[in-house]
Amino acid sequence: MSTQTHPDVLEKLVSLCKRRGFIFQSSEIYGGTGSVWDYGPLGVELKKNLKDRWWHSMVRARQDIEGIDAAILMHREVWVASGHVAGFTDPLVDCRNCKKRFRADDPRIKGTPGTPDAQCPACGMKGTLSEPRLFNLMFRTFMGPVEDSAAEIFLRPETAQGIYVNFLNVQQAMRQKVPFGIAQIGKAFRNEITPGNFIFRTREFEQMEMQFFVEPGTDMQWFDYWKEQRMTWHRSLGLAEERLQFHQHTTEELAHYARAAFDIQFDFGGTLGFQEIEGVHNRGDFDLTQHQKHSGKKLEYFDQPNNRRFVPNVVETSVGADRTTLALLVNAYREEQVPGEEEGRTVLGFAPSLAPVKAGVFPLVKKDGMPEFAEKLAKELRAGFPVFYDESGAIGRRYRRQDEVGTPFCITVDGQTMQDGTVTIRDRDTLQQERVAADRVRSVIAERIGVGV
Ligand code: GAP
Repeated sequence: MSTQTHPDVLEKLVSLCKRRGFIFQSSEIYGGTGSVWDYGPLGVELKKNLKDRWWHSMVRARQDIEGIDAAILMHREVWVASGHVAGFTDPLVDCRNCKKRFRADDPRIKGTPGTPDAQCPACGMKGTLSEPRLFNLMFRTFMGPVEDSAAEIFLRPETAQGIYVNFLNVQQAMRQKVPFGIAQIGKAFRNEITPGNFIFRTREFEQMEMQFFVEPGTDMQWFDYWKEQRMTWHRSLGLAEERLQFHQHTTEELAHYARAAFDIQFDFGGTLGFQEIEGVHNRGDFDLTQHQKHSGKKLEYFDQPNNRRFVPNVVETSVGADRTTLALLVNAYREEQVPGEEEGRTVLGFAPSLAPVKAGVFPLVKKDGMPEFAEKLAKELRAGFPVFYDESGAIGRRYRRQDEVGTPFCITVDGQTMQDGTVTIRDRDTLQQERVAADRVRSVIAERIGVGV
């Protein structure tokens, strides 16, 4: 598989994201928390736009999917039933020489770990890698004041289980008929052994998951349907066609709950290359059956017209909000020369609907009533979408500052504005400027970013 079709921009992005208020290392002043990140003012807008986009297409725009927001803390038995307590493990290998730890399936390992021919990918020594061993990835804590095994609970490693245990609550309350789905967005926690690559693999992250309950026997049909739907959604975010692909899981790759699975992969560039951003899984009746067994409660659907009961099959779509945010950043990042300018520019070419700030508003100079006019315009626009007002520095520099954070439009108030009430709107990508009456700016921009005013 090709891994070098796009340059590696991760390092540049980490620095841009910190400098411009997208993403900071968690607890940075204390030296940081390993592989945990905080979203700053622009990052939180970007991720929120992404989550809203998902929620709209999966919940609000559909009659057959309901949304929920289940708690992070769940009954301990949930994770026994789901198989996570026993099986949520990644085989790992340690290097006896350099003390580094790797996933046993790390493609950089040459040879079979535990044998003399295996070579450590870090220090290069042969025969120093241990046999693979299992490691529990769930964060453990205690509920209540007593720290014993009866009070032991886990931070959820996936949001899906909150949906399964609420399957009948939602179906009955909303009078839904199979096939139907339940969706939620929420935090998940995994004590990942080899986290890294910025927000690609972290220990605290957000998932956007949907479980679609179908009649047994129709599961593969729905699996194919969701696989296509979800790829179409990723394309609609503006992720480049050639950077997206499916990867079908082989029998060895399938998770313990899955009958069939496809990953939707994005090409992150550099050596990371194509990696999963979303999983579409046919989970069969595994989860509902397991919860029936462990809770002693029936989780059957009553098919009234046919007067029969059955345990539905589940097709799951599971996408990482943080990982897709990283895909958006990587996809959007570009450096280019501007005709007629010596200094190049860095651009985050987000789709306007996803950009954290929709418009920059600038007075050309800080006099002749321009700042007052521009501030008033910025205030009016803010009622419709996020706007950044900036009056400091040369106008070219102000444009470039907005290009670097992906602001699709910049509005400048100049001498002509003071005479005829028109302003210029500069397009981030084409660099074209057009003159528009100030009182039309809000509807012109709203139409281009696809929001109502
Ligand atoms: N409920 C199924 C499930 O959790 P998964 O493939 O383990 O499946 C789904 O995770 C998605 O969650 C992944 O495609 C990825 O986008 C995201 N994800 C998983 N682990 C992650 C981590 N440690 N950091 C960031 N995102 C993660």
